[in-house]
Amino acid sequence: MEKTGIYINAKDIKGRIAPQIYGNFSEHLGRCIYEGIYVGENSAIPNTRGIRNDIVKAFQNIKLPVLRWPGGCFADEYHWKDGIGEKSSRKKMINTNWGGVVEDNSFGTHEFFDLCEQIGCEPYLAGNLGSGTVNELAEWIEYITFDGVSPMAQLRRENGREKPWRLKYLGIGNENWGCGGNMRAEYYADEYRRYQSFCKDFSGNRLFKIACGPNADDWGWTEVMMKNLGSWHAQGLSLHYYTVPSGNWDKKGSARDFTDEEYYETMRKTLYMETLLTRHGQIMDRYDPDRRIGLVVDEWGCWYDVEEGTHPGFLYQQNTMRDALVAACNLNIFNSHCDRVVMANIAQAVNVLQAVILTEGAGMVLTPTYHVFDLYKEHQGAQSVYCYTDTAQAGGKIPAVSASASVKDGVMTLTVANCSLEEDTEITADIAGFDALSADGRLLCAPIKALNDFDSPQNVVIKPFTDISTVDGKVKFTVPSCAVAAVTVKGK
Ligand code: AHR
Repeated sequence: MEKTGIYINAKDIKGRIAPQIYGNFSEHLGRCIYEGIYVGENSAIPNTRGIRNDIVKAFQNIKLPVLRWPGGCFADEYHWKDGIGEKSSRKKMINTNWGGVVEDNSFGTHEFFDLCEQIGCEPYLAGNLGSGTVNELAEWIEYITFDGVSPMAQLRRENGREKPWRLKYLGIGNENWGCGGNMRAEYYADEYRRYQSFCKDFSGNRLFKIACGPNADDWGWTEVMMKNLGSWHAQGLSLHYYTVPSGNWDKKGSARDFTDEEYYETMRKTLYMETLLTRHGQIMDRYDPDRRIGLVVDEWGCWYDVEEGTHPGFLYQQNTMRDALVAACNLNIFNSHCDRVVMANIAQAVNVLQAVILTEGAGMVLTPTYHVFDLYKEHQGAQSVYCYTDTAQAGGKIPAVSASASVKDGVMTLTVANCSLEEDTEITADIAGFDALSADGRLLCAPIKALNDFDSPQNVVIKPFTDISTVDGKVKFTVPSCAVAAVTVKGK
């Protein structure tokens, strides 16, 4: 049994953990929107105005704070006017990025805002800069948010929505260094400035504008963007980083069939998020020392080869305890960088990449990744506090334990992932600045390749975790190998 020391100082506050760090991303890709979220009003699957009731309930349970839509690469080919009005007359288009399938636009602006209202989360729109026009994006904002008399507000009313919606988060383009136009940073920065000028704050609505940021460790992109963005032009800069186990995009590795070595390599790669946030943060600090521009990690997660027999363009993959550990480590990293990271959106919500939920017909499966979001939900809106972990190495490659701590309403939440495949670890959490009185917890623990599927949806589930002692301000408990724990510590 290993021993791990976690040193927490509740008086040393990093900042507030934006609830939006626990966001999701949903794209018109494979079976994410259609089948996964939207089945249409005439479906036998229980739904409200075409939106699956089971999905809404599952997202409510993890307190999903924000949902990004409609892409991804799809966003820079999306023309929002094709997705409003009478469904039967909506334009059909080719989804060129994702399998060349027909997109019938039956899920559009009204349906997306309805989805967010049903869940109780904030909408985050990715606007089309790559193949759209400034006017098209400006009109979308007017359509959604303007309360007065104007052509777009009138059109919205004709389509059945009298009052405007509230829209805060607006991305202006997606991956414009790649699928969003293959632009150079200098060119995109100018385009961004032009587009954002015409995205107005109407009727008391205030936009939080997010510029396209770097791909992984493209430090140069961040440098150019920061040089050219004043905090009056943008409030956020995005970052995309996918964990690809092999590092080879042509043969990424299997989601469910992997060796221990491949597992540790996946973890090593995912922990690179720490370096990315630190170094992009340092570049941003030089231009924006007051941290008025937030980092928005609006695509992150594991990207494997698609499941055998599935459409290669649909990016459907299973999700194991490995993914749970990846999610747990990334969320701990985001918590500890909450002074710069203001939002993160796992890719993706349903049936795509590191999905939080999988569906098959009327069936729905909550993945191990979903359960991590459930375990961590009390961090949302809490104060992130100093948390240092003194831990052994695992697999010769990574620190065995990853942890983060936060305080909200006099209650501390400590989340701990034991990434070792071999050793349980006895944790002693030494807490300064907080009189720990009692503690209890919840635990997600299963073999590394364990997963939930439609035959066995309850293989990997959260269990109560009660073997926790609190003595002289120290909280002690043992986290088994390959497990994620959330410990709630009550103060005196
Ligand atoms: O999430 C899948 C794709 O990955 C997104 O469409 C794109 O932004 C990224 O390359």
